[in-house]
Amino acid sequence: MSEVHVIDHPLVQHKLTLMRKKEASTNSFRRLLRELSALMAYEVMRDVPMHDVTIETPLETMTAREIDGKKLVLVSILRAGTGILDGMLEVVPGARVGHVGLYRDPKTLMAVEYYFKMPQDIAERDLIVVDPMLATGNSAIAAVDRLKELRPRSIKFVCLLTCPEGISALQKAHPDVPIYTAAIDRQLNEHGYILPGLGDAGDRMFGTK
Ligand code: URA
Repeated sequence: MSEVHVIDHPLVQHKLTLMRKKEASTNSFRRLLRELSALMAYEVMRDVPMHDVTIETPLETMTAREIDGKKLVLVSILRAGTGILDGMLEVVPGARVGHVGLYRDPKTLMAVEYYFKMPQDIAERDLIVVDPMLATGNSAIAAVDRLKELRPRSIKFVCLLTCPEGISALQKAHPDVPIYTAAIDRQLNEHGYILPGLGDAGDRMFGTK
């Protein structure tokens, strides 16, 4: 089974609590999501391979450390993934970016793809797929299914919140994809929302409800 990493740093947990509050404004929800995602990026990237390079400081030659391999690809699941993407790009500004457009059919809760645009040379790159809410798992599974067709070197999945149902669905479909989250909530409701959760992440981020 894939690993589940709960990022329990106090700064992450504090910001998540502020975001959950129903009175949080669109402005503060968006800002907190960006800040929180930048903090999560540290943990998500903790194990990236590195190598030694020889560099010249103004005073001496030294051996320093650099991240290995081709540039990372951040893949945002539209539309709510945008919030995590923006925060992660602040700490990994050189990353390439892909987008997967998926909406949830309100009756079946299944993911329907309407957009898919990736950098050209995905093979041999490391991918980080981002979506704030891992709820039924259907969107995450559909996105990872599509991405695996392009044969990347690795895939990680990052969300803000998840629940036992979402974790087991993604683990069952993609046991090789580690999951990073700030919290695992109690359960899904019959409409596919996470409880206690934070509501509809896209609506709260963009002020559309
Ligand atoms: N998507 C959301 O935005 N919120 C949930 O609780 C579940 C899915």
